[in-house]
Amino acid sequence: MKKIIILLILCLPVSVLAQKFKGLAPTPPMGWNSWNTFGININEKLVKEMAEALISSGMQEAGYKYIVLDDGWETKTRDPNGNLIPDPNKFPSGLKALGDYLHEKGFKFGIHNCAGTKTCASYPGGRGHEYQDARNYASWGVDYLKYDWCEHGTANAEETFKTMRDALYAAGRPIVFSLCEWGSNKPWLWAKDVGHLWRTSGDITDCYDCQEVYSTGWKFILESQVGLEKYAGPDHWNDPDMLEVGNPGLTLAESRAHFSLWCMLAAPLMAGNDVRKMSDEVRYILTNKEVIAIDQDPLGKQGYQFMIQPGKEIWVKELSNKNWAVCFFNSSDKPMKIRLNWSHLWFVKGTHKVRDLWKKEDIGTTNKNIDFEIGSHDVALFKLSPAE
Ligand code: GLA
Repeated sequence: MKKIIILLILCLPVSVLAQKFKGLAPTPPMGWNSWNTFGININEKLVKEMAEALISSGMQEAGYKYIVLDDGWETKTRDPNGNLIPDPNKFPSGLKALGDYLHEKGFKFGIHNCAGTKTCASYPGGRGHEYQDARNYASWGVDYLKYDWCEHGTANAEETFKTMRDALYAAGRPIVFSLCEWGSNKPWLWAKDVGHLWRTSGDITDCYDCQEVYSTGWKFILESQVGLEKYAGPDHWNDPDMLEVGNPGLTLAESRAHFSLWCMLAAPLMAGNDVRKMSDEVRYILTNKEVIAIDQDPLGKQGYQFMIQPGKEIWVKELSNKNWAVCFFNSSDKPMKIRLNWSHLWFVKGTHKVRDLWKKEDIGTTNKNIDFEIGSHDVALFKLSPAE
C-alpha cells in the first residue's frame, strides 16, 4: 500500500506540486526601479549612488527596500551555454557583487526580464531558458523578478508565467515574482497562485492625462482600476505600474495626488525618479509615513472608487482596527471648494476622529461638517479612526 502511494505521488505532474513562494509580499512591495527615469542607461555606479540616496533621503527607512534593475542590464546575446550575461561595460563587477553590495546596505535586489523571446528593449528574453535563468538569478542573490511580456508570439500567458514560477521555485531561492503582462489577459483572474503582483495596465508616463503610443498618464490608469479591488490582497497585488512622483512632467500637486491614489489602491510603491536630485517637496511626498501606512495597512484591502462626478472623485479604503482612509480628488482644471458632511459617507458608523494626512493635523471628528479647498489635480487625504 505504502509503495503504491509513493508511486502515485511520483506520477503526479510537476504542475500539481508547483507553487509560488508564499508570504513574500504580505503588504505591497516598495522600492525603486530604474526604468521611468533612466530607461536602458543603467550601470553599477548609478545603482550604487541611488542606494546611497535612498538611505540619506530617508526613503529606505520609510520602507523602500527593493532596488530593481529594469531592462538594459544584459548583453545583446546569451553566452555559448545559453546563459544571460550582465553587460560588462555597465556592470563590470557582475551582478553577484552588486547583489552583495545591496544586501550589505540593507536592500533587496530586483531584476527584470521577459517571458517572450526578447525584452521590450530587444535584449534576450527568457522563453525556453526559464530554469537556467532562474538558477542564475538565484546564484546572483536576486530577491525580486519583474517579468515582462514583449515578443511572446502565440504563447499562452497563464502557462508561460506559470513556467517561470515553477522555475523560480525549483531554483530554491525565495524571489518575489512580479508579472508585467499589462493586464492584457486579465491576470487578476488567474495569477493569484502564480505571482505576488501583476500589472493591471499598460505603461505609465510622467504626465497627468496625456496619451503616448504605448503609455498614458496616471489619470487614465487610475480610472482603469475601478472594479479590480476585489482581486487584491496579501501576497497577490494589483500593480497599476510604477511611480512617476517627482518626475518632470508632473506638477507637485499631481505627484501628491498620484502618490495618494496609488496608496489608496494598495499599489506596489516603486519610486521611479532620480532620488539623488529630488527636491525637499518630492521627498516629503515619498517619505510621508502616515500616507505610506495607508498603502501598507496589514488588512491588505485595496481601496475603491466610492463616487465619481465631473471634476471630482472620492476613493475610500478600509483599514485595520476599524479605521478608514478617504481621499478627495479634484480632477478638474480649477481649484474646488468642498463642504463635507461626513454622514454622506454611509460606511463610517459612529463618531470618528479625522486626521489630514498631508497637513499632518487632527481636524476634529466626523460629527462636524468640514470645509476645505483642493487645488486642481490635487487631493485631500483623511484618516478616520473610531473615537473612544
Ligand atoms: C515594458 C514594461 C515597462 C518596462 C519596459 C522595459 O514596457 O511594461 O515597465 O519594463 O518594458 O523595456
